[in-house]
Amino acid sequence: MNSEVIFAETVKRLRAARHLAIFTGAGISAQSGISTFRDPSTGLWARYDPKKLATPAAFAKDPALVWAWYSWRRTLVNEAQPNDAHLAVARLAQCLPHVTVITQNVDDLLERAGSKEVIHLHGDLASARCFQCNRPYLGALPVDVRADCDSLEPPRCQHCDGQIRPNVVWFGEGMPEQELDQAFSAARDCDVMLSIGTSGNVYPAARIPTLATEHGAWMVHINIEPMGTASDKTLVGDATHWLPRLVDALG
Ligand code: OAD
Repeated sequence: MNSEVIFAETVKRLRAARHLAIFTGAGISAQSGISTFRDPSTGLWARYDPKKLATPAAFAKDPALVWAWYSWRRTLVNEAQPNDAHLAVARLAQCLPHVTVITQNVDDLLERAGSKEVIHLHGDLASARCFQCNRPYLGALPVDVRADCDSLEPPRCQHCDGQIRPNVVWFGEGMPEQELDQAFSAARDCDVMLSIGTSGNVYPAARIPTLATEHGAWMVHINIEPMGTASDKTLVGDATHWLPRLVDALG
C-alpha cells in the first residue's frame, strides 16, 4: 500500500476511532534538532558508546562522565523547541474522544507542545534520583553544559549522601512497571495506533505496536523509512509532514 492510500484509510479510521494510541520515539524530535540514537552518521549511538554512558556499571565506574553527558543532553533539550509533529500530537487529543500518548523519549517536547499525561517509558531528563537509595532528587539540575564537558561531579542525595543519577532507564534496567502496564493496556484497547519515529529496536517498548496489531488495531508507522514487514503500513516521510496533515484532515 502506498502512503497516500494508507493516509486516506487512516483518516477514515481516526474519524471512527474510540481510542487512539500514539507511540513515539526519537524521530519525532529530530526536526527539533535532537539527535536520534541509530542514525548511522548523526545518531547518539554512532558517536558515543552506550556501554560507557548508559548502564549502571558505567555510572558506578565514572559518575562524573555520565552525569556530564546527560547534563549536556538536558541542555540541548532545554534549548530546543517543540516542532509541528509535537504540536499535531497535542491537537489530535483535542480532535478525538480518547487519546493515549506513550513515548520512549526522555525529552519533554510533547508536554511543551501541549500534550497532557504523557507516559514516559524510558524516564526523563528533567528529573534525577539517588543511585543508592533511589529517592527523588529535589535540587536544581544543570542546564548549561556543553558537548566538550566530559566530567561533572553529580550532586549528593540529601538523605543518604549517595550520588545522584539521571532518572532515565539504562541498558540492563527494567522499565517503570506502572508506565509499561498503562502502555500495554492502551495497545490492547486502542482501535488506531500511530507509531512515530521509532526503529522498534528496544524491548519491551518495541512490543507495543505489535500488541496493538494483534488486538485488531489499525497500526500505522510514521517514519522516514518503510518499517517492519510487507504487511506493515508506513506513512513514509517526516513526522512533521504527516501529523499536521492528519490533523488538518480531521479538522
Ligand atoms: P532510534 O534512533 O532507534 O530510531 C529513530 C527512528 O526515527 C528511525 O526509525 C528513523 O528512521 C526515524 N526518524 C528519524 N527522523 C525522523 C523524522 N523526521 N520523522 C519520522 N521518523 C524519523 O530511536 P528510538 O526508536 O526512539 O533508549 O530508540 C529507542 C530507544 O533506544 C531509546 O528510547 C533509547 C535508545 O537506546 C534508552 O535510552 C533506554
